[in-house]
Amino acid sequence: MKRIAIGIESTAHTLGIGIFDASSKAIISNSYSTYSKKYGGMKPSDVADHHSQAFEQVLKKSLDDASINIFDAKVIGYSKGPGLAPCLRIARTSAVLISSILRIPVIPVHHGIAHILIGKFDAGLVDPLVIYASGANTQLLIEKQGAFAVMGETLDIGLGNAIDMLARAMKLENAHGSSIEFLAKNGDYIELPYTVKGMDFTFSGLVTRCGQLLNKHAINDVAHSFQETAFAMLCEAAERALMLSKKHEVLLCGGVAQNKRLQEMVSKMCEENGVAFGVAKSEYNRDNGAMIAYAASYLFDKFGNSYPDKDISIKPKFRIEDAFV
Ligand code: FE2
Repeated sequence: MKRIAIGIESTAHTLGIGIFDASSKAIISNSYSTYSKKYGGMKPSDVADHHSQAFEQVLKKSLDDASINIFDAKVIGYSKGPGLAPCLRIARTSAVLISSILRIPVIPVHHGIAHILIGKFDAGLVDPLVIYASGANTQLLIEKQGAFAVMGETLDIGLGNAIDMLARAMKLENAHGSSIEFLAKNGDYIELPYTVKGMDFTFSGLVTRCGQLLNKHAINDVAHSFQETAFAMLCEAAERALMLSKKHEVLLCGGVAQNKRLQEMVSKMCEENGVAFGVAKSEYNRDNGAMIAYAASYLFDKFGNSYPDKDISIKPKFRIEDAFV
């Protein structure tokens, strides 16, 4: 018999609804719709409007792809935070509504914890040092006594946001990490500011310097040098965390984990240190509903009705070390 978990993700630009079947340990659907704008940043209220308008269609596709009826669900999860408040409310309100109609438990899930849990599941890792690199967050984490402890992190902006800022400074039509990754393939290296403090690091000085160089150098060279420098900083801090934590595995997860050059550099660092490297498939590293469904199922199986987080609200500044796992 199927044990179905539905997960709803809406922390930022993506509304995602995924379905996990705990009986077969399989993700059976992962549907999404992403807000996009040709130039510039996102206005949270516009993104939330997109999510509410796309909701019915994304839910229908997810249920159809999984070949289930919504009444088959045994648990429902939503991303509680961190994220943009108007966007977070879409997942929270719909999950609470569905749970009350179906009389099933609702599980609030930390977005970063969901990235880690699905990363471990998809990559087959047990107890890794985690390199979590997304838009707003970039952290080095280890699991400790029912929570994730931060060993190191960005002291200013997340790596994904730094990449997006560079893409906007370049006035790219698709101001996204994939455009920078594409440009970086054919560039030459220019020396840039490199800031690592122990296991912490900063990216804003790097972005500022790259912006200043755009009039003097080809954008391919700037994109290439940015990636090489930022990723080397992250690898250096991660290697230090690996030595201190004595872990035998490294998981790379979060939206920036889709970058093939970052995967290559972290993989090389792991190989040199004789530890296993894992990264989930791209569809589980981008923001998605399947990771929320998987995390809700995992947490419900582990805690049952005694899941410690009873607060079914949203938490836009939810720190990862405050989440139960
Ligand atoms: Fe994310």
